[in-house]
Amino acid sequence: MTEKWILVVGARPNFMKVAPLIRAIDRHNHAGHSSLVPIHHSLVHTGQHYDFNMSDAFFRDLALPKPDLHLGVGSGNHGEQTGKVLIEFEKVLLKEQPDLVIVVGDVNSTLACSLAAVKLHIPVAHVEAGLRSFDRKMPEEINRLLTDAISDYLFTPSPEGDENLAKEGIPPEKVFLVGDIMVDSLLFHLDQARKTNILQRLGLKLPTSDLRSPASVLGPQSSDLRPPTTDPMARRSLNEAGRPSTIDYRLSTSLLPYALMTLHRPANVDDKQALEKIVRGLLEVSAHFPILFPVHPRTAKQINAFGMETSFIFHSTPDIRPEEYFDGKILHRKIHCFQPLGYLDFLNLMAHAKVVLTDSGGIQEETTVLNIPCITLRDTTERPITLTEGTNVLVHNDPEKIVAEVKKVLVGDTRVSKRPFLWDGRTAERIVAILANRC
Ligand code: UD1
Repeated sequence: MTEKWILVVGARPNFMKVAPLIRAIDRHNHAGHSSLVPIHHSLVHTGQHYDFNMSDAFFRDLALPKPDLHLGVGSGNHGEQTGKVLIEFEKVLLKEQPDLVIVVGDVNSTLACSLAAVKLHIPVAHVEAGLRSFDRKMPEEINRLLTDAISDYLFTPSPEGDENLAKEGIPPEKVFLVGDIMVDSLLFHLDQARKTNILQRLGLKLPTSDLRSPASVLGPQSSDLRPPTTDPMARRSLNEAGRPSTIDYRLSTSLLPYALMTLHRPANVDDKQALEKIVRGLLEVSAHFPILFPVHPRTAKQINAFGMETSFIFHSTPDIRPEEYFDGKILHRKIHCFQPLGYLDFLNLMAHAKVVLTDSGGIQEETTVLNIPCITLRDTTERPITLTEGTNVLVHNDPEKIVAEVKKVLVGDTRVSKRPFLWDGRTAERIVAILANRC
């Protein structure tokens, strides 16, 4: 007997959540215990994201296998995009007849594929369940609510997820607190990420203390880091490869003088007034140090549509001469933009940033693990644990708050994060064990 599972990816934030699951399934299959049912997995890409930088680059960086099926759905309005995925994925399910469908996150593909499966009575597992911003204007909030309501196995990253699901009447036997799967990818790839040449390509130099061995040219050795966290859980934790991960990834001596930014939420970039307010704050910040901004296609389109190009410098590649932003004062008070980055380059830049400005969900979690100050350009978060245990602070689109929080970072008024419970790099292993045991 073999179990047949389909894993779904659609958009950029899905890829790093599925890669650890595929590795965990492969490990399960190779464990060689006669009591374990072998799992045959297929990867379906809906095609919600299709640009090289938004999709293929992540397959390369995360060493994801090529999708077994690509639905080629592409962009569109919400109803159109969700509907197309629903129609195409139903055909796949009717043909393949899987025993289980695994969806991750909160994008339109997540909802569409879980809906197609549940209507055909195919069990659905939702990874990253229970997150709630309580803002129903966010398309992701609707996707989260509906996907959780129809899923059979709900894997939560933190205890608030369990509480939210309990309040919505989801039976507790369906809910499993397993930790944050993005952290699996982060811990697994961090060493590799530190070796990319993105810092050099941007003309960013690490302090000489970090240049002692070839391996540390682009990132500090663990001995350069602050002492391991006092959290005994984190000390004991293993990364996915089963190696002890005793470092706490605080790059205290290695913070480079730049802010890294991501910005693409419709509430921020589709609304001219909101975007103008954010940009006002950002331009003030850019007087202190450069803001590096890999631009999402949606945001690039909106900057042009609103005629706001003069606040930005679009570099055609991420290779920027350092004097352009450190010495060339004429370029101060502009935001430095380039194409979206792959997973490893972005992780490397994030791990060395002085501060991160973002409206993404996952980056709030990654900065918490990396202990990098995170200023979130939203008024809500579905990840409140990053506020209570991490480095995250919400500033919405308020220019004064943006500037004030950056200033705090510049004077060293920052919080030290504590890595949340079960954010240890073994979430995928726990999920696969639970799902395989149900057979
Ligand atoms: C989607 C997710 C969001 C996630 C984000 C990460 C939903 C509702 N939203 O938002 O949760 O944070 O991905 O990127 O699923 N485009 C391209 N090339 C691409 C992809 C998109 O040019 O490869 C452009 C298209 O013009 C498209 C627009 O970006 O209309 C938005 O793409 P879409 O997938 O609708 O939503 P995102 O804003 O990317």
